[in-house]
Amino acid sequence: MHTKRWFVCTGILFGTVLCALAADEGRSAAFVPGQIVTICVNLSFEESEEPMLDYDASRLHVVDHPLVQHKLSILRDKNTSTKDFRELVTELAIFEGYEALRDLPLEDVEVETPLEVMTGKRIQGKKLAIVPVLRAGLGMVDGILKLVPTARVGHLGMYRDEETHEPVPYYCKLPEDIHERTCLIVDPMLATGGSLAAAIQFLRDAGARDIRCLTLVSCPEGIKNVLDSSPHVELYTCCVDRQLNENAYILPGLGDAGDRIFGTR
Ligand code: PRP
Ligand code: URA
Repeated sequence: MHTKRWFVCTGILFGTVLCALAADEGRSAAFVPGQIVTICVNLSFEESEEPMLDYDASRLHVVDHPLVQHKLSILRDKNTSTKDFRELVTELAIFEGYEALRDLPLEDVEVETPLEVMTGKRIQGKKLAIVPVLRAGLGMVDGILKLVPTARVGHLGMYRDEETHEPVPYYCKLPEDIHERTCLIVDPMLATGGSLAAAIQFLRDAGARDIRCLTLVSCPEGIKNVLDSSPHVELYTCCVDRQLNENAYILPGLGDAGDRIFGTR
């Protein structure tokens, strides 16, 4: 998004300078390309489908490995079965968790191979908590647990009011020592961002400090909401979709993630 804005601004500047130079020196050869550049960048402004939103992009990590993009396309397909949908959510959570835990601290460990003794590495005793936002977030838990089987799991129950699209909390159970743990909040969909922002606030109120959010499909409005309202969280997602529709569903999106994971519609 920032690249596009940079391109548009540079294009306008370049086109304007060419026009001005041409007008100044009476050179029609430079005037025409100058006008063309200006018109083109104006058109790209008008045709831009992404809302131009400002947020701290350094805290947004888009996990766009080719395997992730491939699996995401199957996930979006309305003909994908509940069973396949569930399996794909688990697989995508593994890819995303792998990236979100890239900075886990290591320590030396002595290992005796069949041939000699060497110094290997192991993960320091870092404590982890996975916190799914119910219901859909439950679909991502098994994937992260495959990476870190000893992680604790908290639960945050929240649903979106169909009229206001505001999150309605109904359940919260977190590990007692959440303040000592690296917390991964998982929820496949980041739409308005209301649910994730509320989930982050629950964790902060409980004392959590190291919070990372993992979503599969996000949109610019939700990303901005979360990054602006929570200056210390890191956000991981597999893609940034175009926009929200009038019912605050993500376009193109994948529909209702909870219903598709649990086969309730
Ligand atoms: C979905 C999704 C998120 C929320 C995203 O849950 O899993 O929690 O909506 O929307 P937001 O960014 O606008 O808050 P939903 O409310 O449908 O509940 P469910 O998981 O129980 O189906
Ligand atoms: N929740 C979903 O499950 N999907 C959306 O597109 C938005 C919110």
